[in-house]
Amino acid sequence: MPGKKDNLRTFRCQTQSSKYILGKIIAIANQKGGVGKTTTAINMGACLAILEKKILLVDADPQANCTSGLGIETTPGQPTIYDCMINQMAAKEAIVPTQTPNLSILPSHIDLVGAELELVSRMRREYTLRQVLEQVRDDYDYIIIDCMPSLGLLAVNALTAADAVIIPIQTEIYALEGLQKLKNTIDLVREHLNPELKIEGIVMTMYDSRLRLANMILEEVRQSLTDPLFDTIIHRNSKISESPSMKAPVIMYDAASTGSLNFMQLAMEFLKLNQDTVEA
Ligand SMILES: Nc1ncnc2c1ncn2[C@@H]1O[C@H](COP(=O)(O)OP(=O)(O)O)[C@@H](O)[C@H]1O
Ligand SMILES: [Mg+2]
Repeated sequence: MPGKKDNLRTFRCQTQSSKYILGKIIAIANQKGGVGKTTTAINMGACLAILEKKILLVDADPQANCTSGLGIETTPGQPTIYDCMINQMAAKEAIVPTQTPNLSILPSHIDLVGAELELVSRMRREYTLRQVLEQVRDDYDYIIIDCMPSLGLLAVNALTAADAVIIPIQTEIYALEGLQKLKNTIDLVREHLNPELKIEGIVMTMYDSRLRLANMILEEVRQSLTDPLFDTIIHRNSKISESPSMKAPVIMYDAASTGSLNFMQLAMEFLKLNQDTVEA
């Protein structure tokens, strides 16, 4: 018997414009470290999950900050994304639920460092993650990939698997430095590997409204960007930086904080952009 959710998914598929993709895969990418990729993946994912979307987070960074930030400790022998990409382990064997309802994760481990080298000699090496995620795509409303800070083979795998990219940019001086290089890589991926790849939007992070400089940077970015920019701005907020040590997304740690409100707003903006609905 199909449940309410199945009916709803079918209904949405039939009635909504082609923009709505079931199991849409979003890569959170920027080759710069410390710009808010992991924070965006965890917290936008958690807010979408709270809004009753079924979410899979994919930790594609050997640093495994997304995994540890959600309190998932991989024990020796526990399968991770490495086993799925390198040892043909079924994705379902490695995916684990998190404390947040509707939010699961395909965890990472430092082993993943070796995957780039191990993939080099393989056929269709750029499609490895895509093949892993195809197995479970229909089980989720959205799959969010937290990329590593590089433009190497793992990041290319994420861009090849994705329908769209969200690019977090820190609201600081030289904010846009490196963006063109990322866009060149996205263009190459589109040309050779994944023609459907879109830029969903750029999201400004760690914004400090008290700083005149931050306001000037924001203005400059607004004027010079040719890519879509999310209206939502993620402010610098201590609850956001504390939440990984509490092993929870900020919405589960302090739901009334500015950080929670910002990420909830980002999740809602994302759903609106995707012509997706929030269930009452
Ligand atoms: N909006 C924010 N407010 C306060 N601290 C933040 C915010 N966004 C990210 N941080 C902190 O900045 C650091 C880098 O963020 P992170 O998401 O890990 O970046 P990346 O994944 O791009 O390397 C982390 O310690 C994180 O907790
Ligand atoms: Mg990270």
